[in-house]
Amino acid sequence: MDDRRIGVFDSGVGGLTVVKAINKALPEESVVYFGDTARLPYGPKSPETVIRFSRENAEFLLGKNVKVLVVACNTASSVSLPSLREFTDVPVIGVIEPGAASAAAVTKSGIVSVIGTLGTISSGAYQKALKAYSVVKCVIAQPTPLLVPLVEEGWLDHRITRMVLDEYTAPLREEGADTLVLGCTHYPLLKKSLTGLLGDMILVDSAESTAAAVASILDGENLSSNNQHGENSFYVSDIPLKFQEIAQRFLGSAVTMVTQVEVGEQH
Ligand code: DGL
Repeated sequence: MDDRRIGVFDSGVGGLTVVKAINKALPEESVVYFGDTARLPYGPKSPETVIRFSRENAEFLLGKNVKVLVVACNTASSVSLPSLREFTDVPVIGVIEPGAASAAAVTKSGIVSVIGTLGTISSGAYQKALKAYSVVKCVIAQPTPLLVPLVEEGWLDHRITRMVLDEYTAPLREEGADTLVLGCTHYPLLKKSLTGLLGDMILVDSAESTAAAVASILDGENLSSNNQHGENSFYVSDIPLKFQEIAQRFLGSAVTMVTQVEVGEQH
């Protein structure tokens, strides 16, 4: 039994979809979350910059003595896992591999699509992870950079968002994909609009698959906690106000205590 916390980081608020899924799957575990709100978005940034930020975020969480590190950001997961694994001995879990495994498990046609930020899609990480499964015959990868601002604006089922989704998903519908991986922390909030547009295409929520991967690591490595109720603590690198305003939408409950900290070169 291990009562240390699970460390989770993201570029901002989106990783709270992963915290929500971890809280649901593992209610006895406590989570310490860091959102790098001063330096977001990561989606359009170069791999070198995202790797540097990720290492600094990981350093902050490792300083809190976490037992597992969850990279709850698709853009960061797509480029920084090898570098983070070099840097620490605690298990490092990203969101890409669990999402790809779930997609491979559900596709029937073998035509799988994935949407994500520019950084995630251009890294090729999802394409590589999906093609590792022989059932996956073809991957249609579509960058969808306008979706993060629309979700942060709260336009989840808005006319404009539906138009943008219609445009972005045209290639995957044309190619006959039967599965769509939501390759960005923000996209689970668009499930309703996407279902309206894509009918019975299966939507893979990498937040849920990642929580399942965390559960299996804790179990396999004897790291589970025997707390009655886990607790969440939140840290951000910019003033907490905007984070708190939109956190509820992502986490499903209010975030009352958020601490601002400095990470990286600002020290
Ligand atoms: N968290 C990022 C991701 O999942 C989206 C937001 C950003 O671009 O920083 O890719």
